[in-house]
Amino acid sequence: MKILAIESSCDETSIAIISDGKLLSNVISSQIKAHQIFGGVMPEVASRLHAENILYVLDEALRSANITLEDIDAYAFTRGPGLIGALHIGMQVAKTLAMLYDKPLIPVHHLAGHIYANEFNNELKFPLLSVVVSGGNTELVYMKEHLSFEIIGETRDDAVGECFDKVARTLGLSYPGGVIIDRLAKEGEDTYELPLPLHDGSLDFSYSGLKTAVINLVNNEKQRGNEIRVNDMCRSFENVAIKMIVDRTLKAAKKYDIKQIVLAGGVSANSYLRDEMIRLFSSSGIELIIPPLSMTGDNAAMIAKLAEHLYHRGLTCSLSISADSNWPIEDYDKF
Ligand code: KG4
Repeated sequence: MKILAIESSCDETSIAIISDGKLLSNVISSQIKAHQIFGGVMPEVASRLHAENILYVLDEALRSANITLEDIDAYAFTRGPGLIGALHIGMQVAKTLAMLYDKPLIPVHHLAGHIYANEFNNELKFPLLSVVVSGGNTELVYMKEHLSFEIIGETRDDAVGECFDKVARTLGLSYPGGVIIDRLAKEGEDTYELPLPLHDGSLDFSYSGLKTAVINLVNNEKQRGNEIRVNDMCRSFENVAIKMIVDRTLKAAKKYDIKQIVLAGGVSANSYLRDEMIRLFSSSGIELIIPPLSMTGDNAAMIAKLAEHLYHRGLTCSLSISADSNWPIEDYDKF
């Protein structure tokens, strides 16, 4: 059983081929350089570059898996959430191939894919708590079994990755800022006082106040003619941003009876988050699953992995399906 999966929800064009759980290829073409001059992802540019690159990525994915399209049994694609124009490119290619070869089409939820990326290296054990932290989303997802997703906490405004990227831009750092802040924070001290928002005891997150606090602090210091100590600001900001994730995870782990904590999404590459999670959970009796760095960012391997589960549940769709930029994870089987 071979599935070809396409991911195009944001600024990575990626195609992977999986054969009964074994990854045969996972080609990723990143658009990061094209978006850097804008300081963030420019949706129209993302769509155009997906359209320009996707057939080269397809060709390379088939070549490195050493197979042809005749060998593929089903086509999977990221249906959402993501940038609507970008999603459409991947979906359209998947639909075209499914129609041409008369094969099933599998719509895949992007964030659920991030969670299932961990299955390449670990068996998922239920019930589990997944900490999904990325550029577009910040969610705590409770899974009592395979393909059961319940959001028990989420951001009320910005996503944590978006906050990292905007703070980086305020400090004059390049896009995407998360990885740069992570690096510079290691050289800095926690000297700037920043607010830790939302003390209502809930499992929700809030990042817009923290972002605004950094912007105001930087502007005030500039007006006074003071230099910003960038490394110290990165350290101070990262401490608060990550503390919010760790705090909610600890609360959720107390409230829910779970066997595993599973990190997922681009921000799970953050070294301070990883260290803190290991420090707090390594002797807690709850198994901590941290994805390899290669599986933290957007890639089609994770879409392929989840697509196998969906296929076995019969979750295929017709060619009339449309993309959904705000598809809730709980509705992963409604399309
Ligand atoms: O999951 P992802 O690749 O894209 C989305 O689906 O959103 O996540 C990208 C986000 C960006 O905001 C990026 O700055 C952030 O992940 N990121 C990091 C790190 N590496 C990537 N944030 C903090 N620390 C990192 N090391």
